[in-house]
Amino acid sequence: MMLDCMRTLRICVAALALAASALAQTATYDEPYRPQFHFSPAVNWTNDPNGLVYHAGEWHLFYQYNPFGDLWGHMSWGHAVSPDLFHWKHLPVALPEVGEVMIFSGSAVVDHANSSGFGSAGEPPMVAIYTSRTESDQTQSIAYSTDKGRTWTDYEGNPVIDIDDPAFRDPKVFWHAESERWIMAVVLANQRKVRLFGSPDLKSWKFLSDFGPEGAHPVRNWECPDLFELPVEGEPGTSKWILQVDSGMGHPWLGSGCQYFVGEFDGERFTNDNPPETALWLDWGRDFYAAQSYSDVPAEDGRRLVIGWISNWMYARDKPTSPWRGAQSVARELRLKRFDKGLRIVQQPAGEIESLRGDSLSLRDLSVAAANRQIERAGFSGDTLELELVVAVGDARDVGVRLLQGGDEQTVVGFTASPAEAYIDRSESGRVDFHESFAGRHSARLTPADGHVRLRILVDRSVVEVFAGEGEVAITDRVFPSPTSTGLSLFERGGSARVVSLDTWKLKSVWK
Ligand code: FRU
Repeated sequence: MMLDCMRTLRICVAALALAASALAQTATYDEPYRPQFHFSPAVNWTNDPNGLVYHAGEWHLFYQYNPFGDLWGHMSWGHAVSPDLFHWKHLPVALPEVGEVMIFSGSAVVDHANSSGFGSAGEPPMVAIYTSRTESDQTQSIAYSTDKGRTWTDYEGNPVIDIDDPAFRDPKVFWHAESERWIMAVVLANQRKVRLFGSPDLKSWKFLSDFGPEGAHPVRNWECPDLFELPVEGEPGTSKWILQVDSGMGHPWLGSGCQYFVGEFDGERFTNDNPPETALWLDWGRDFYAAQSYSDVPAEDGRRLVIGWISNWMYARDKPTSPWRGAQSVARELRLKRFDKGLRIVQQPAGEIESLRGDSLSLRDLSVAAANRQIERAGFSGDTLELELVVAVGDARDVGVRLLQGGDEQTVVGFTASPAEAYIDRSESGRVDFHESFAGRHSARLTPADGHVRLRILVDRSVVEVFAGEGEVAITDRVFPSPTSTGLSLFERGGSARVVSLDTWKLKSVWK
């Protein structure tokens, strides 16, 4: 009887959510600040990406979603699919809130061997592993789909893990071939622990080990863990495990951010190779959180791809966008490289972005002043751009590019020689008044290679993602400029730099 009521309720909620998604069709995707090649829901609130999984030719993006408003609440899993990680098709809400039980973050896998028994040998089920959240309790539950994620059925034995903890969430599951079982990384958020469980069938889970609290950061909590293996570039046969865990309030520039550890995983336990105080950050801007990596990327593709929520809990609710609030980063490919200071993740946008490139401008070996004259002569400007700038820093103290320029607005992306840092400065980027801690400059140490600095920059109206060096530094910041602020120019200060190369493209909208 109880179960019937829950089902009816779920159908009603799904119907309401469907109505909301119909409303979504009225969004123009041309509203002020609306990203043109980043994912955002047509209407309403989103935070974390969830259930990133590739299946049958489709990249699935589930995401924390409030079907009923543009602030956090009624958390459910929204759903979109893409053939190429950039062009998204909205689908109805996949996992709606049921009564008082919200659907918090989690992951999805394709159960190829049908270990769960939810599918059949020829038709492997997709299984979503999520947190069921009530005021007093957080437990892990599963749901499955046998129609490519279009409809979902809750497992009748839910929850699959209940340890009677009110801050136990965000399960990320993967198949671990060596130990022939599923592994789940999940957080005890307030204790700053990542707990690992193992399972043969996604339904029964056994405790394996705890990691943390590790590192001396005054973080408020840990959220959204991920655990995966990466080959070390240029060292055939060597690989390391990355444990990513997100820090609700521990980011060096205030608020939330993604931290990672490099180490070993033996099938039961993760061990950190570095001293606990070595804090490695996936992104040094203030708007990259809750990143998750894709499951089931085909072996012949082989990339480790992640998407993060481009926001910060500190001011997420205050962002001046309507009728939606929140967006996801572009998919980024992660690699692991050895530098003088140790192994570091390097990131670049997924290569599919190149298909969005339109009008372009390429300059070679010029002074900054000459490069600016060429940019001006070409009338090159825009608010949806990709830039690849390589500068020889020379004796300049500060060199880089001013973006989204107009009137007294500009977003500055640059490199300072001392300290050697790449940065985004959004102090004068446009609307900054909606939160006291929004304006500012966010930098990260970067060692030039033979006096050269490479800055790859994505500009998407209200999003700036920077990949500096080989991508060992990523900096992501939201900005809210006037629609007329589309200017672009290079600058140098305190000495002269040389533009080795500038390649820039206007990127096409994926929503038109
Ligand atoms: C991270 C987070 C998760 C939680 C979700 C709720 O941003 O707080 O820990 O599952 O958001 O929306």
